[in-house]
Amino acid sequence: MTGVGGRRVLLGITGGVAAYKAADLARLLVKSGVDLRVAMTEAGTRFVTPVTMQALSGQPVYTDLWDPRIPDNMAHIELSRDRELIVIAPASADFIGKLAGGLAGDLLSTLCSARRCALMLAPAMNVEMWRNPATQRNVAALRDDGVIFAGPADGDQACGETGMGRMLEAGEIFDLIQGFFAPRLLQGRRVLITAGPTEEPIDPVRVITNSSSGKMGFAVARAARDAGARVTLVAGPVSLDGPAGVIRINVRTAEEMFAAVQNAVPDCDIFISVAAVADYRVKRPATQKIKKGNQRALTLDLEENPDILAWVAARPRPPFCVGFAAESENLAEHAMEKRAKKRIPLLAANLVHEALGADDNSITLFDDRGAHPLGRGAKGELARRLVEHIAAMLDVK
Ligand code: CTP
Repeated sequence: MTGVGGRRVLLGITGGVAAYKAADLARLLVKSGVDLRVAMTEAGTRFVTPVTMQALSGQPVYTDLWDPRIPDNMAHIELSRDRELIVIAPASADFIGKLAGGLAGDLLSTLCSARRCALMLAPAMNVEMWRNPATQRNVAALRDDGVIFAGPADGDQACGETGMGRMLEAGEIFDLIQGFFAPRLLQGRRVLITAGPTEEPIDPVRVITNSSSGKMGFAVARAARDAGARVTLVAGPVSLDGPAGVIRINVRTAEEMFAAVQNAVPDCDIFISVAAVADYRVKRPATQKIKKGNQRALTLDLEENPDILAWVAARPRPPFCVGFAAESENLAEHAMEKRAKKRIPLLAANLVHEALGADDNSITLFDDRGAHPLGRGAKGELARRLVEHIAAMLDVK
């Protein structure tokens, strides 16, 4: 179970092609242990059937204000009262307009209007409908009322046009729901994170790099953001979307990463060094592509890169420093040695063959009190546990 396990969510589906993504969202929520209830507008049922949603949620699906399964005709009260969050995905322009105007003529709008819990909307509509001043007025009014907006995103639309209005992917909405429920353990803290590999040029087309995917660092950035921190993420070359609400600085080489960290570190309370920084760079990268020629062997002259984490930890008043160590053997021994060498309070260690590129990992934390295995799990879940551990260490300080 993840941080949302046991949470009580109502998923509302209105009419829009993006309703197919709601099926995936329901699957993600149920898989993570959410107690999910689904309600749909009549238009929503044109795009995805209640039977599909029932099968995915394992619960009856509601579409009608006069549903005879609810004895006293109080469906709008019954279905929303015990919920902690209502998520409407997709939320059509029409539905957003209804909510902004306080209209409550069908089950879903009535549910939203009679709710006591938070409401999150994932808009999905054509770009012109989204840009329409009436829609923008409605969105602004709902934001003022405290409604949370998940998206929309920019991109290709089902109608063939391109622009703002595309619904976020199911995983992105799920991520925001997890964020909504996360305890604010790092509220007000400023967190600097490095992630991904670095690339050291050999010539204009070749580089020395490693197979870090950046997934763990990005998961840590997301977990810290969800915990209420203000997060800056210095990312090496990775093909990952930056978590919303996180300041992202893209870098390529270890020296660029070092410069970005030097610049950002005076404003941070916590530094989490997840990046797989190349320890060496080519001393004089060739300005033109190296030709094979007749040589049978090629020697690269390498020089050492700065150790970014060790530099941060050695500052006069360092932030709380967390290192990561990917080891291929003798995990505990190497991890404890590394933690002592870099003089950092906390080190997260894993075995490389269990982590690189994968969505899962198995991590053990090492601090003054010894080893704390976090066990095996999705990187997002392990990142959340790491944040809990950091918050606990900062609290006792
Ligand atoms: N690190 C860093 N700068 C470097 C090398 C490493 O900031 N030039 C950080 C990593 O982000 C990680 C920690 O130091 O948090 C440990 O990285 P790792 O590569 O495992 O350790 P090294 O110190 O490079 O030791 P070795 O490669 O010999 O295992």
